[in-house]
Amino acid sequence: MKIIAEIDKMRTYAKIMKKNNKMVGFVPTMGALHGGHAALIQAARKQVDIVIVSIFVNPVQFGPNEDYGKYPRNIKADEELVRSAGADVIFYPKKEDVYPEGYSTYVGVEGITERLCGKSRPGHFRGVTTVIAKFFEIIKPDIAYFGLKDAQQAFVIKKMIKDLNMDITLKIMPTVREADGLAMSSRNAYLSPAERRDAAFLNKALETARESVLSGERNSKKIIKIIREIISKATSARIDYVSVVDTVSFKDMARVKNGALIALAVYIGKTRLIDNLVVDITGKASDGEKKGKRRALQARA
Ligand code: PAJ
Repeated sequence: MKIIAEIDKMRTYAKIMKKNNKMVGFVPTMGALHGGHAALIQAARKQVDIVIVSIFVNPVQFGPNEDYGKYPRNIKADEELVRSAGADVIFYPKKEDVYPEGYSTYVGVEGITERLCGKSRPGHFRGVTTVIAKFFEIIKPDIAYFGLKDAQQAFVIKKMIKDLNMDITLKIMPTVREADGLAMSSRNAYLSPAERRDAAFLNKALETARESVLSGERNSKKIIKIIREIISKATSARIDYVSVVDTVSFKDMARVKNGALIALAVYIGKTRLIDNLVVDITGKASDGEKKGKRRALQARA
């Protein structure tokens, strides 16, 4: 496995691979890797010839009072995980090279980025689409892999690819979870043992909502109430939002339909966690998640 830090070298490598008719897959990450990232890399490994994983804690997607400074960084452990998940290259650029002095170009998707996480993290998605547009331009991947855990991010990237006519296929992979259902996240490392127990309420609440939908409830307000009630039992929890939205417009849906996104963001102590589920009246979504979990367990074994 190669580690490439220079942008020019990354571009040349990817260009040569494509010239040799290799399919290139790209998994962007911010490091502090876990089973969720491993599942994306393994999915890419199965589908493409060359798997490139970027590790870059992107300063422009963090707000001034957010955790950019303390975001966990552990390149040695990350290298090990990426290697065992089967990638070919880690792209590990320097902040000064991605955003040199005088940098002033940003890519922004309007509309859907102002809702849900965009409301409480102004400028966040603009930072994400900027860095991803840059990395797409450097690597020109055939397929890019994103996690459904960050559902709004994945749908924002989908919109950017469509609006900018990018020749890239987007694959959105199921959320990988810990044994008690908590979605794996680099930020889970911030939680104290008591907060970690409270964090499990997020998925419990979503699963209860899923059951309620499957047994016929379609009123979004009632579903949101069920979720809020369960989460409020966790003493360290403070809800940012719980919403039922359409995944194209990200507008609230009064009635829950197939394909609706039930999404939430909750502060557990000072740590902001997100989770969601895509409503599948036939029950297939939960299957997908279980498969994702199995893949992650294999990755760690
Ligand atoms: P990061 O949080 O490191 O996540 C990288 C990718 O892993 C994202 O596509 C995310 O959705 C996915 N992921 C995270 N946790 C997951 C889980 N439990 N199951 C499945 N997939 C999971 O998201 C970012 O970095 C950044 O915003 C980035 C896209 C790299 C731009 O800087």
